[in-house]
Amino acid sequence: MRQLRLGVNIDHVATVRNARGGSLPDPLRAALLAAEAGADGITAHLREDRRHIRDADIERLATKIPLPLNFEMAATEEMVAIALRHRPHACCIVPERREEVTTEGGLDAVRQHDQLKPMVARLRDAGCRVSLFVEADPAQLEAAVSLGAPVVELHTGAYCEADGEARAHHLRRIRAAAARCAELGLECHAGHGLDYDTVAPIAAIPNVVELNIGHFLIGEAIFVGLDAAIRRMRAAMDEAVAAGSAA
Ligand code: PXP
Repeated sequence: MRQLRLGVNIDHVATVRNARGGSLPDPLRAALLAAEAGADGITAHLREDRRHIRDADIERLATKIPLPLNFEMAATEEMVAIALRHRPHACCIVPERREEVTTEGGLDAVRQHDQLKPMVARLRDAGCRVSLFVEADPAQLEAAVSLGAPVVELHTGAYCEADGEARAHHLRRIRAAAARCAELGLECHAGHGLDYDTVAPIAAIPNVVELNIGHFLIGEAIFVGLDAAIRRMRAAMDEAVAAGSAA
C-alpha cells in the first residue's frame, strides 16, 4: 500500500503560548506527542513577524525531535540563513505577507523564478529537501522543475473553503496537478485547511505522498486531546489510501 506521510504543523501551539507570553503550552512537547501519536514529521513556520513559532523553537525542534523537521520559510535572505544554520530535513518555501492571517495563496514560482533559483540551490546544497508551496497550476509545476526543486506542496486551502461544485472543481485541479507532478518527476505533497471531512479525497490521490496539517488538529486537540486528534486524522488518511488501493 502507498505510504502517505502526515506532517503535523505545530505553529498554533505557539500561537496559544504567545497569547499570554511565557513558555506554555510548549510546541516541543506537542511535537514529541505528535511523534508518539503517529506523525511522520513536524512542520513549523517561522514567520517574519514571529507571530507564533520563534527562533528558539526552531533551535529546539531541530535538535530534540525524533522526526524529520519541515521548516516552512519565506523566500528571504534571513530565512535562508536560519535554514542553513539548522539544516532541517526539509525546507518548504511559502509566500508571506505580513498582513495575512495565514498563507493565503501559493508561491508564484513563475514570477519569482530568478529570485528563487539561487535560494533553492543553496538549500539543496546544504542537504535540505526543498519544496515549493504552490497552487495546482501546471505553470507553477513546470517552474518548480526549472528551479530544481524536487518537491511541490499543493495548496488545498481553496478546495477546503469551497462547497459543492466549486469544491469538486478545486479537487479536479489538485488531482490533475498531482498527475502532472508524476509526469514531471516531482514529489507531490498537499496541505492547508485540511480537516477530517476534507482529508480523504486528497489522501486518495495516488501520487500524493505527504500531507501537512496543523490548524484543525491543534483546534481539535482542545476538545479531544492532541493524541486522539492525530490518531483519528492518521486513520482517516490510511482508510482513504486503502480504499484507493482497493478501487
Ligand atoms: N502547508 C503549508 C505550506 C502551510 O503554510 C500551512 C500553514 O502554515 C500548512 C500546510 C498547514 O495548514 P493548516 O494549518 O491550515 O492545516
